[in-house]
Amino acid sequence: MALKITVIGTGYLGATHAAAMAELGFEVLGLDVVPEKIEMLQRGEVPMYEPGLQELLGKHVAGIEGSSGRLRFTTDFAEVAAFGDVHFLCVNTPQKHGEYACDMSYVDSALASLAPHLTGPALVVGKSTVPVGSADRLAAYLTEHAPAGHEAELAWNPEFLREGFAVEDTLHPDRIVVGVRSERAEKLLREVYATPVAEGSPFVVTDFPTAELVKTSANSFLATKISFINAMAEVCEAADGDVAKLAEAIGYDDRIGRKFLRAGIGFGGGCLPKDIRAFMARAGELGADQALTFLREIDSINMRQRGQMVELTRQALGGGPFLGKRIAVLGATFKPDSDDVRDSPALNVAGQVHLQGAQVTVYDPKGMDNARRLFPTLGYADSALEAVRGADVVLHLTEWREFRELDPQVLGEAAAARVILDGRNALDPTLWRKAGWTYRAMGRPTA
Ligand code: UDX
Repeated sequence: MALKITVIGTGYLGATHAAAMAELGFEVLGLDVVPEKIEMLQRGEVPMYEPGLQELLGKHVAGIEGSSGRLRFTTDFAEVAAFGDVHFLCVNTPQKHGEYACDMSYVDSALASLAPHLTGPALVVGKSTVPVGSADRLAAYLTEHAPAGHEAELAWNPEFLREGFAVEDTLHPDRIVVGVRSERAEKLLREVYATPVAEGSPFVVTDFPTAELVKTSANSFLATKISFINAMAEVCEAADGDVAKLAEAIGYDDRIGRKFLRAGIGFGGGCLPKDIRAFMARAGELGADQALTFLREIDSINMRQRGQMVELTRQALGGGPFLGKRIAVLGATFKPDSDDVRDSPALNVAGQVHLQGAQVTVYDPKGMDNARRLFPTLGYADSALEAVRGADVVLHLTEWREFRELDPQVLGEAAAARVILDGRNALDPTLWRKAGWTYRAMGRPTA
């Protein structure tokens, strides 16, 4: 009989995982403690913008016309325990308020709510990003609190999905990593992931700490690549070099690779910044802080980019105060194809220039509602053209395709001055300069 799967926590990760599991052919029951979220999902609606996710839910959520009916939702842990053979924990692990460490309270409370209902054999699989050592602790908790005792087992299976590609990354992962303590757990997870494995995804079996560390080290490596190229941008800036050409040239070396070498205002979002900080905090607890001191530098290079963008803006406005200047900001989300504004470098820069007295108008294709909620005092426009109207300088801070396709000539007629700062190194300098704009990007020649 086919496995039955439950997904606990239906935020970004969980909603995508639940829909993907249904797509793979399993009966799935998703749980969230927020009833409003469940009601939305039951209607096939997604609480965030993620390409392809709404369609996938529509294809499988029970009650939607023409759906497979394989995906249902609930708020009841007892129902989840009775339903599933494999329970995925997909709750979030934010940064603790005012600290670097990771807040495990959602994971802990999800397991505390589930465990007492597990009266028979079950596999609980953690997917959240957690400090190394958590799985060990949670496994002990599970054995102690589940009536099934050792029949209720834990496994760790980190998730590597990128926002904007969540569906694709979940259905066709680069790799599947499982931390297990028994053959039974491995066998069950091989069954869950049989389709992507048959299609070529590598299946890496390891212990708990390694599985947990794969996730945090992968994110740290990605963050390191970005801060490395941003450090090179600082040197290019000082030496009159071109960081975009440099990235292209070093990227041709397969050992380096071309991805994640786009210099600019740096990384943000709900994962990379908090994950490298939590990793440092955990290494400190384990007495291995020295191994990760470089991450402190990665973080500080990253934060410096935002300040550098503010400085370039000041220079572009003639070096004087921001008071009374009009600044158009194109982009609010931390990256394109997402409506996520968590720790967004774009909004951080917009906020800084606004605080210093500039009149800021922001436009973003998908992030306007979230941006308005977070920064209600900024100005907002309904289109890039409206944002740019009357602007003394334009800041391009999130590299949406829509912005690459803008006509610099048309924008030039609306702006008060043709000055654009490309914080993402994503626009074509030749095109903008030809239309009479002063184009400036970090680590690139000024003309
Ligand atoms: C990241 C990891 O990629 C993913 O594997 C993990 O599961 C979660 O964290 P995500 O947060 O969706 O995913 O964003 P990602 O695409 O990695 O981009 C992170 C940030 O880095 C964005 O703000 C992006 O603009 C920035 N970035 C990316 C750069 O500044 N330069 C680059 O070259 C690439």
